[in-house]
Amino acid sequence: MFESLQASPADAILGLITEHRDDPRAEKIDLGVGVFRNADGETPILDVVKEAEQRLVDSQDSKAYISTAGNASFNAAIQSLAFADSVPDDRLMTLQTPGGSGSLRVAAGLILRATEKATIWVSEPTWNNHVPLLGGAGMTLKPYPYYDVVNHVIRFEAMLDSLHKVPKGDLVLFHACCHNPSGLDPSEEQWCEITDIVVERELVPFIDMAYQGFAVDLDTDAFAVRHMASAVPELIVSTSASKNFGLYRERTGALSFLVTDMSSRDILISQAGSYVRTLYSMPPDHGAAVVSSILLDAELRARWIVELYAMRDRLRDMRSLLHDALKLKAPGHDFSHLVRATGMFCFLGISKEQVERLKKDFGVYMVDSSRINVAGITPGNIEYLADSIAAVL
Ligand code: LMR
Repeated sequence: MFESLQASPADAILGLITEHRDDPRAEKIDLGVGVFRNADGETPILDVVKEAEQRLVDSQDSKAYISTAGNASFNAAIQSLAFADSVPDDRLMTLQTPGGSGSLRVAAGLILRATEKATIWVSEPTWNNHVPLLGGAGMTLKPYPYYDVVNHVIRFEAMLDSLHKVPKGDLVLFHACCHNPSGLDPSEEQWCEITDIVVERELVPFIDMAYQGFAVDLDTDAFAVRHMASAVPELIVSTSASKNFGLYRERTGALSFLVTDMSSRDILISQAGSYVRTLYSMPPDHGAAVVSSILLDAELRARWIVELYAMRDRLRDMRSLLHDALKLKAPGHDFSHLVRATGMFCFLGISKEQVERLKKDFGVYMVDSSRINVAGITPGNIEYLADSIAAVL
């Protein structure tokens, strides 16, 4: 049976991990996959996570199954982190999922159970995996304009024009903050304008919030979620603890639905339970247990916020470092968009061929769209990085 299969092409982002790992050059730099790194180029476990894990090991007395919806206290804590008090709890339901990707996949399955011909509009560009993930689950995807690759700004008017034409009832995927790949988010005023169209056109917003706390702060980054929640009857939110708790490999995420009333919420809970049961039965517990123990303990929560904002600040500092270095080494080229972006990513704004040359000649790895993960920049590699970029310009 399996001889009939053809090899699958490498994933545009994950493939870079292997390519970079296998590169023998000492000076190589990985600006590919979205994983935080410190100034030594390492992805350490947060101190507060280590502490919570230790407490968990000492106190946990069973590994028995929990439920298809996962850890209830994690679900409540993550829901409150995302929505705060923007809507009454009895219109919300949250289930723990295997990471943000698992959340997107479960959402797609449930949407398709509710409406067989679901169309979702996604920003052009969007995260590399949104399209195969949601499309592979059976949803129809259509693009709306988002990023101006020449001027490095959001194509806000074009985006609004396009949203004005979206058929009633379709879904629209938004990035709550730290837009992946561009790093550019709408302002609060712009989110309000977007919400007005969503309400007027009766669209269903689906917000992917994978980077809460990496742009401005935990509350500001959730503005789109909370503002839309207060204005629309239905809303879907995917969250991830991969980045803001550094729990990447623990696959810790959540899927929240805002619905109109308690009876639709109860039906959705039962549908989600039966859907998850046929997919992976129930999510892994460890990451969720760690997150809930941090969020529910005032001291651990305060320590987490300090560590989270230190990650955010390092990303901001590395953007400035690269911007300033390129100003010196590549005069005549405008890289000011680097410091206008937030979060892990932005586009360098170079061609595919230049990206390829950076990889081949200098061992500098990034997605071929020229999206860079700024966490891969360190004070130790900035000179080499800026020299390499200047050389291919
Ligand atoms: C990324 O965009 O690099 C991250 O979200 C990691 C991934 O799974 O693609």
